[in-house]
Amino acid sequence: MKTCFAPLEGITGFIFRNTYHEFYGGIDEYYTPFISVNQTRKLKKRELEDLLPENNRVPRLIPQILANNTEDALAYIRMIQEIGYDTVNLNMGCPSGTVVAKGKGSGMLRDLKVLDNFLESLFYGLSTQFFEPVKLSVKTRIGIRDMEEAPMVLSVLAKYPIHEVILHPRLQKDFYKVPVHKEVVSSWQQTLTAPMIYNGDLNSPRDVQDICQSYPDLQGIMLGRGLLWHPSMLNSYVEARNNTTEIPSVCPPEDPKKLKAFHDTLVARMLETMQEPNNVLHRMKELWFYMGCNYPDATKPLKAIKKARNMQEYQLAVRSLFLS
Ligand SMILES: Cc1cc2nc3c(=O)[nH]c(=O)nc-3n(C[C@H](O)[C@H](O)[C@H](O)COP(=O)(O)O)c2cc1C
Repeated sequence: MKTCFAPLEGITGFIFRNTYHEFYGGIDEYYTPFISVNQTRKLKKRELEDLLPENNRVPRLIPQILANNTEDALAYIRMIQEIGYDTVNLNMGCPSGTVVAKGKGSGMLRDLKVLDNFLESLFYGLSTQFFEPVKLSVKTRIGIRDMEEAPMVLSVLAKYPIHEVILHPRLQKDFYKVPVHKEVVSSWQQTLTAPMIYNGDLNSPRDVQDICQSYPDLQGIMLGRGLLWHPSMLNSYVEARNNTTEIPSVCPPEDPKKLKAFHDTLVARMLETMQEPNNVLHRMKELWFYMGCNYPDATKPLKAIKKARNMQEYQLAVRSLFLS
């Protein structure tokens, strides 16, 4: 079963992906945060930089797009193919209000007739306009407001030659909080011919074991926040499995030296590459929102990180955190 690192906008750019892979590894496939397709049909500098093969040192990278217009989507898929990718992932899960309002992300699930037409013309375009074939995978939620929508979403997806379906079994209205509706996994697996990757709330080695044992036919699992809270979570799972020891239900403590080295390398690389130190500050604050759980007694330094106005204040706060 392959392991995938979920796309996390604002966090998992190429510097994070490379550094995570170097320090923790164990991931077969990484996904880019979404590239929002628009009428300009041009990749932004930041998006291009994130995609360039020479910037990426991970085993496999899948670019993700967020789209609501077939022709624009095909234009972006073509640009992404020209950079060297043979697979593109379509985001049908983003729950944010502004994205949904544009009919993108999980907004694609609002009107299933529109979704059906979109997929029909997208797959038609992929089969007729491309010299070299491109595979399309989707990352989807199961509906907007009601569990009764799930079988209808499934029946639309089942019509198309989707390469892989990444299933995040929540409704749009659930955002990221309410428990995942794991009960739909089996019926989706039975109906879809496309292989399935499960995503959602794999936050401990035991969670990983449970999903792998409950659904052995999955093509893969995708992990997101679990690896931000506990970067070595998957390593702990693999280690316990290989040693045939009990799989822990709580993440073992992170190695503090390794976490510090990971952090310091990440910050140094971001400062080297990103022109605006405040962007580094912003990204690191996002990351600490998750990684901070490894320092339960360091309330003061964590607060200082959150409040830091520049990189100097940030570095001071982080130093005291690592000494705590
Ligand atoms: C801060 C943040 C940013 C995200 N950005 C994206 C994104 O760009 N594309 C996407 O498909 N999902 C995105 N997601 C959703 C995650 O990929 C994932 O589906 C979600 O966090 C559930 O998985 P997890 O419980 O393993 O974290 C984002 C989630 C968060 C919390």
